Amino acid sequence: MEGTLFILTFILQLVIAVTDVSSCSCGFADSKTGAIWTDALIAYANETGELPERSLIAEDFQNPYEKNWNARYRAGAKPSNLGHEESTRSGWNGTAWTLKIDPPTKDHIVLGASLRSIRRDIQYGTFEAALGAPKPGVGGSIFAMRLDYNETQTVNLNVMNADAPKDAWTSFMIYGDWRGTRSKGVNFSDFGNRTYGFQDSPWGFVPYRIDWNNATDIDFFIGDALARSIRSKGVAKPLPVTPMTLRIQHSSIGDMYTSEGPPPDGSDARVGMLRAFFNSSSMTSDDHDAFDKRCHLAPACLVSDTSLRGASNFTLAASRPWEHKTIDYKKRWPAIFVVSISAAISTILLAHATSKRAPWKPKEAATTTISSADPPVAPTAISSGRTSRDLSTPPSFIYSEHDALAFTVQMPGMGTPGQATPGSVTPRASMPTGSSHGSSQVFWALSRDSLDICKVDEKKQAGSQIVAPCVEIGKYAEKKQVEVTVKEIGEMKHPVTNHATLANAKPPITAAKQRVDYLAGLVALASILVTLIHFALTFLPATEIPYTHAHYESEIWALKIVTPYLLTFSWIGPFFTSSTRFLIASYLKSGNLKGIAEKTVGRTPRLIIPCAAIAALEYFCMQVGATNWLEYLPSVTWSTWPYTAGYVTFGHFLSEILELMYIIPNAVPQITFNYCIGVLWTIPVQLQNSWLSLLAVIVIREIKAPWKRMGYYAFCILMHYYAMSWGTFFWVGLLIADLDLTYKWKEWLYSRPWVYYPFLTFVALLAVGSPSIDLVGMWKANWNFNTLEFGIHPHQRTGHAVRDSSDYGYPAYYLPRLTALTFSIGFHLLVELSTVVQKFFSNRLLMWLFPHILTLYLIHGLVFWSLGAAICVHLAAHNVPYWANMLVVAICTYSVIFGCLPLLTPILEGLGKSITQKIWQDASSKPPPRRKTLYPFSPEMFQGNGPDGEAMDDVESQAVKEKK
Ligand SMILES: *[C@@H]1O[C@H](CO)[C@@H](O)[C@H](O)[C@H]1NC(C)=O
Ligand SMILES: *[C@@H]1O[C@H](CO)[C@@H](O)[C@H](O)[C@H]1NC(C)=O
Ligand SMILES: *[C@@H]1O[C@H](CO)[C@@H](O)[C@H](O)[C@H]1NC(C)=O
Ligand SMILES: *[C@@H]1O[C@H](CO)[C@@H](O)[C@H](O)[C@H]1NC(C)=O
Repeated sequence: MEGTLFILTFILQLVIAVTDVSSCSCGFADSKTGAIWTDALIAYANETGELPERSLIAEDFQNPYEKNWNARYRAGAKPSNLGHEESTRSGWNGTAWTLKIDPPTKDHIVLGASLRSIRRDIQYGTFEAALGAPKPGVGGSIFAMRLDYNETQTVNLNVMNADAPKDAWTSFMIYGDWRGTRSKGVNFSDFGNRTYGFQDSPWGFVPYRIDWNNATDIDFFIGDALARSIRSKGVAKPLPVTPMTLRIQHSSIGDMYTSEGPPPDGSDARVGMLRAFFNSSSMTSDDHDAFDKRCHLAPACLVSDTSLRGASNFTLAASRPWEHKTIDYKKRWPAIFVVSISAAISTILLAHATSKRAPWKPKEAATTTISSADPPVAPTAISSGRTSRDLSTPPSFIYSEHDALAFTVQMPGMGTPGQATPGSVTPRASMPTGSSHGSSQVFWALSRDSLDICKVDEKKQAGSQIVAPCVEIGKYAEKKQVEVTVKEIGEMKHPVTNHATLANAKPPITAAKQRVDYLAGLVALASILVTLIHFALTFLPATEIPYTHAHYESEIWALKIVTPYLLTFSWIGPFFTSSTRFLIASYLKSGNLKGIAEKTVGRTPRLIIPCAAIAALEYFCMQVGATNWLEYLPSVTWSTWPYTAGYVTFGHFLSEILELMYIIPNAVPQITFNYCIGVLWTIPVQLQNSWLSLLAVIVIREIKAPWKRMGYYAFCILMHYYAMSWGTFFWVGLLIADLDLTYKWKEWLYSRPWVYYPFLTFVALLAVGSPSIDLVGMWKANWNFNTLEFGIHPHQRTGHAVRDSSDYGYPAYYLPRLTALTFSIGFHLLVELSTVVQKFFSNRLLMWLFPHILTLYLIHGLVFWSLGAAICVHLAAHNVPYWANMLVVAICTYSVIFGCLPLLTPILEGLGKSITQKIWQDASSKPPPRRKTLYPFSPEMFQGNGPDGEAMDDVESQAVKEKK
């Protein structure tokens, strides 16, 4: 009864007060802007229950992914979420349309509601709506009025209630969806201030307006107050211009930086009315002329007339999305021609170079060189069970002291000076492949010191006395070998015959090589694990980050059990501890400052040139769109960890590279935010601590009394630890190297099993126990050793303990932790002392990988974030189960990464090592005698005074003469 009455009054009112827009054939004049719009669409929810079916429809869709760096949920809409209810909120009388949101599903889908105009030809206009924000305190969602064509051609405003009501705000955007900073919006608490003067509650209905005036001019309003104004002059990209669709949409994507959410129990938002006046892109210029002629003098309706109702008629064409005309490629033929020729030339040159270097082939060259130079040795090398490639891989080249070992055995001339034929077999000739690999520079100092000792001596004097150091090293190698074999037998209980075979069939080279390999193996394994960590952070966040949503239960178990051991950043530690050894070994042994000098000169370019080259390559890849799919990835993986953005200008690029060289550790270099996977923060740590190590070893060597030396170590390690400096890792590395090289503690330990085994057990406990502390933290909420430990260090800004400062919490990833330190010490010593562990780390796979670890380190992020992201997003869009998706992504990305290693490593190598070597050679060796610069012409030709040219030895003297 009441209802009927209501409808009756309702109809009466309509009859009395309403003007249909179809009667306005000469458009709508906007007195505020002076514009005339041809078409209109007006709907009032207090006057009709149904949607006006000729102009608006409720949408039904499910996004397979979202384009947003922080979206962890995917939005969707279904018509049944659109309701029509009486509203009691301020700002609106009567009924309103209700757009509901469902609670998120387990699969991170949030179904909301969306209304859109059937017309898709809306091009410029003024759009007004009374929007009732989602309720406060139920979880964040986005209530948007949008005009959009595609991702980038959008004009929209978003009303966001946020998780905490005090953070609620409305943003005004173009190009983007829900991205953007608070500076592009207004907080609810500011609605009432003098600028906006909105007196009602922002939680009730608020009339918002978008004036999309033309291609240069867009304004957003709250009520009648201007909230944001965009002019094409002020922005880098052109403003949106394409024909668009009008939408009112309620959704949630869980973007923790803007909208937050999603609401766990659902939510709703309301629309009271929608008034749109706009132009149609389907009008041709003839139509416009006809309109102008017809309406030249006739009065237009007014936009401000609130009695207008209904929608303008439109053709079927206006309801189809506008299509962008493809560009005529014919005009580009000259460009295509030039590009093809350049590409062909480049391809031929690259193919030629690649086939010449053949990085994928085993190094036959090495073997042949060796065998041709010295037949008896080559077979030994092969019979040692290792490929010739292994022999020539850089570990033997890089590890200073070990180099010499491997080297000595390869070169008979050095072990026995009498046979040496300097010049016929130069170190260079015998190790050609060593110089073509060895990219591993990054993590340590690739000193080829002992090699240099031999090389230099041989080159310079070829005298017997100078070869002495090499001989000594040779002896050292033999001695070591015996020990190792003896120990192997002791430990592995080999029969004595085995001992004999070992000693006979595997001459010194085996032992030498093994000693070389295990540390290389450790670092290679560590670098693989670091890539795995990044893979997990990108695609399976729940295995790395506590309290994130997991696709499968197993990820939570992985986090609690596997992660503390295998996927922990403590694996960075061995890089640091082992790198010191190779920086300082030669000086520690010989006291010759030449090694220090060389490293001081070479360290920076060797680290920075490859990084800069790969950074430039990544920059290029990003610009051509390789990482485009990365922005869609979070909505599929639920990980918001990946983020990258191009450099702003080339100047920024340069500055970021320079920063890598000079930044003080324990800060994040800016390049971390541009580089694919911010691995580069370790470069400054490496670099700065190289200087520390090089300086430290000079001091250490001068402290002769062992107890004083150890005291000094203890003091420095403690100080660095307390100051939260990565220096601890390098000091520990130095200490371990010193114990081995100066004090020969391994021999001492090996000969005393009652000390050796307990010590080995202790070390093993250290290696396993340190991650176990993190494990406890995973299981026990609100207890974390790392946080507690962080608390005792001094806080730099205030000088108090961190515990008493505002920064107290879980330490940032670029800060050293005690568990990482003890883990590194434990692992390093375990590898150093246990032959069984050494055997494991000397396996072929790790040995193959070792030369490539710099490339691996620099390139894996790009592959994960370009190819990996694209595959993952597309498979997810096809509803492939996530485990299968991950399997495919892992196989594809790792195949590509390992596939590029042999191709990229030689390039990086050339860039880093060859240049550095050249610089050092140039700096340290006497320049060869000057050659006449007029070659092939004789000086006489230019003197013009006949045969008296013998005084004219070079151009300079000639110049001097001319002056006279
Ligand atoms: C609906 O709401 C509008 C705006 O508040 C008002 O102008 C109009 O009179 C209302 N219609 C009816 C039938 O109450
Ligand atoms: C709603 O109704 C009240 C009382 O009739 C009136 O004062 C108010 O202006 C109306 N609000 C709107 C938005 O029409
Ligand atoms: C109102 O709030 C906005 C921020 O949203 C601020 O920029 C503006 O200055 C404020 N106006 C006044 C008069 O305080
Ligand atoms: C969106 O449409 C515009 C105009 O056709 C086009 O230039 C742009 O590349 C499109 N953007 C995307 C992301 O498709």
